[in-house]
Amino acid sequence: MKSFRNLISIIEARKSIRSYKPQEIEEEKFQYVLKAFRKAPSAKNIQPWKLIVVKNKKKKNDLAIACNNQQFIAEAPIVLVACGKEDEAYGVMGGYMNSFAIDVTIALDHLILASTEQGLGTCWIGAFKEKLVKDLLGIPENIRVVALTPLGYPDKDTVKRKRKPLPEIICYDKYVE
Ligand SMILES: Cc1cc2nc3c(=O)[nH]c(=O)nc-3n(C[C@H](O)[C@H](O)[C@H](O)COP(=O)(O)O)c2cc1C
Repeated sequence: MKSFRNLISIIEARKSIRSYKPQEIEEEKFQYVLKAFRKAPSAKNIQPWKLIVVKNKKKKNDLAIACNNQQFIAEAPIVLVACGKEDEAYGVMGGYMNSFAIDVTIALDHLILASTEQGLGTCWIGAFKEKLVKDLLGIPENIRVVALTPLGYPDKDTVKRKRKPLPEIICYDKYVE
């Protein structure tokens, strides 16, 4: 397994994995990535989240269908469903915005980077039918599904996607197009 010297090498190594080995995840590694999720910051430290761990084969298959039929999701030994508590989260960020999706996103990204460090693959899944996912997992009406990710050992290697150059995305002292 690749070893990492610093955070940027983990960030650079992460990529979306769309092919998984059936190999189980060691409990120690799994607890490690859950810890990264738990330690994430959130608005007012409300921690308005719940992470559903799905291992059941039929449920994973049904989830893959609920995610616009992205079959690779069900290949992984674990599928994580990251939920947000909209009612509990900070409601007026910037004067108008509920923080639940941001809070959950930060926590899931913590988990994703910790997974990369442990040699595990993930893929942020934003294409899903919320109602179908909620019905499948008994998620209450007032709880929102923010994202899913498969979690497991990567199988086939995937290409590394490019990023915009820094000058295109950073500006100084004022907004510059
Ligand atoms: C909000 C969001 C939603 C995404 N939804 C999906 C998805 O449903 N299926 C998928 O295969 N990848 C999905 N991705 C992964 C992106 O396609 C991927 O992160 C992007 O192409 C960059 O590639 P990389 O992750 O390998 O660096 C999503 C990523 C984000 C951040």
